[in-house]
Amino acid sequence: MRILVVLALLLIACPIAAQPVTPQIVDDSIPRSLTGKPGDAARGRAIVANRSVGLCLLCHSGPIAGERFQGDIAPSLAGAGSRWTEGQLRLRIVDGSRLNADTIMPAYYRTDGLQRVARAFEGKTLLSAEQVEDVVAYLVTLKD
Ligand code: HEC
Repeated sequence: MRILVVLALLLIACPIAAQPVTPQIVDDSIPRSLTGKPGDAARGRAIVANRSVGLCLLCHSGPIAGERFQGDIAPSLAGAGSRWTEGQLRLRIVDGSRLNADTIMPAYYRTDGLQRVARAFEGKTLLSAEQVEDVVAYLVTLKD
C-alpha cells in the first residue's frame, strides 16, 4: 500500500522535474514567463544576494544594503527595472550571449551550446525556471 502511495506521488511529481522548457525569444526579449506564472520578488532578491546560488554580486553591485564586496565589472543592477522591460530582463538572465556573444555573464537558463559541462550539470540549468522568474520579478522592482 505504501509503495502505491509513493508511486502515485512520483507520478504527480514527474512534470515538475521535467527538462527545461525552450524559451521563446522575440527581438531582444523573452516576453512570456518560463513557468507561466509571475515570480516572487522577495525570493528573487535572496537569489541575487546569495553568493553560492546567483553569484550576481560577484560582478554586479545592487541596491542590496549589508552585502559587502559587491562587484564592479558589470553595470549596477540599480535602476535595471527602469532601463529594461520584464521580457528584456528575462532574456538577459536566460542567456545574455544572445545579445553579446562575448559577454562574461553566465547563461542562467541554457543547456545547449555549452562546452565542457561537468557531468553533474549536463542537461541542467544554473537556475530553475522558477528561480529565473523570481530574479526577474525582483529586477523589475529596481526602478530609478
Ligand atoms: C561573471 C560576471 C557576471 C555575473 C556572475 C552576472 N552578471 Fe549580469 N552582467 C554582466 C556583464 C559584464 C553585463 C553587461 C552586459 C554584457 O556583458 O553584455 C551584465 C548585464 C546584466 C544586466 C543588464 C544590465 C544593464 O542594465 O545594462 C542585468 C539585469 C544583469 N546582468 C543581471 C544579472 C543577475 C540578476 C545576475 C545573477 C543571477 C547576474 N547578472 C550575474 C556580468 C555578470
